[in-house]
Amino acid sequence: MIQFEHISKSYGKTPILKDLNFTIPDGQFVVLIGPSGCGKTTTMKMINRLLEPDTGSIFIDGKDIQSEDKVSLRRHIGYVIQQIGLFPNMTVAQNICVVPRLLKYDKDKCDEIVTDLLKMVKMEQYADKYPSELSGGQQQRIGVLRALAASPPIVLMDEPFSALDPMTREILQDEIKNIQQKLNKTIIFVSHDMDEALKLADIIIFMSKGKIVQIASPEDMLENPANELVRDFLGKHSSESQESSAIESFMRTSVQSMRKDRGVRECAERMARYSVDTLLVIDEEKHYLGTVSIGDIRHWGKELTSIEPLIRQTARTARIGDDAKESFDYLLDSEVNASYVVVLNEDDTIAGLVTKTSVARSVAETLWGDVK
Ligand SMILES: Nc1ncnc2c1ncn2[C@@H]1O[C@H](COP(=O)(O)OP(=O)(O)O)[C@@H](O)[C@H]1O
Ligand SMILES: [Mg+2]
Repeated sequence: MIQFEHISKSYGKTPILKDLNFTIPDGQFVVLIGPSGCGKTTTMKMINRLLEPDTGSIFIDGKDIQSEDKVSLRRHIGYVIQQIGLFPNMTVAQNICVVPRLLKYDKDKCDEIVTDLLKMVKMEQYADKYPSELSGGQQQRIGVLRALAASPPIVLMDEPFSALDPMTREILQDEIKNIQQKLNKTIIFVSHDMDEALKLADIIIFMSKGKIVQIASPEDMLENPANELVRDFLGKHSSESQESSAIESFMRTSVQSMRKDRGVRECAERMARYSVDTLLVIDEEKHYLGTVSIGDIRHWGKELTSIEPLIRQTARTARIGDDAKESFDYLLDSEVNASYVVVLNEDDTIAGLVTKTSVARSVAETLWGDVK
């Protein structure tokens, strides 16, 4: 548990943080969000004592961090920033094991850590490569693994994915959420992107001008934004604009898809990793082709090299701009018993999915007014 008590900080005469008070329970994914310059990074750097407050105290598990040795504190708190700064002359494995080596773990233990962590992001074959041989997304993944290597219970992440392209960012978001749940870490993640916050957070802490405006779960924040600024940030997600009945207002955009030339095994692994029983399949130009199900993979998979022969065109599709009603009726039809509709852009690429959950939410809204 991390507690902020009356934390304030000024630079010169300018107050930057103004009496911050909050508690973060263990195992939560907390996203710190707010306009640029509101004090997110400053707040985060207090937790590993890269910065000290002028007044107030921070407690981790009841212990005032001021009384702890900075270096040992930092060894128990992972830290990931946007410019990850892998060491160029070290291999991936060596980069991951910087902290374990400082902690004098033996070689076998280090090797084990590297293998386990790389496996988690499907990069086992990269252990002996150098950072310059990796893509930006892969480097950032290694940066995340490095922060996790000594199993810190707390990981701080300051806009770690904001320099990546949107596709890669989505994938890394999925991965970090997965890792957090699997390893039960407390993650404090700075973002200025509400989509990211809504997707990742158990708790969102919204800051403005050095103060906390609202602490809430994504659902509660959507339901009851504390003020206009929060409402603005929620933008397209918030109540008023969702009154539109176009299908894109109800869809989720983080969707797992797989190219048709990919292997059956890779596909099955991806399904397991994301706990889904169907994946959307696309071609080289990202056009939607259909779906592949785990049932078909189990039944036919062994004889095939790629998933292409298993693609079925049974899933219902809709277009961006379509009225949502038709898709909703379809999803609510108990005889069909479908769990999603695939929403396509005009060029046949995938825009997102509308699921039964989206329907339930919308129905609740209609029945009870402002429920979201
Ligand atoms: N070393 C510093 N000296 C003076 N002002 C600073 C310093 N570091 C940050 N600030 C100011 O503090 C405010 C909060 O900064 P920061 O925590 O980095 O914001 P955020 O991460 O939310 O964008 C900004 O107005 C910034 O200009
Ligand atoms: Mg910042």
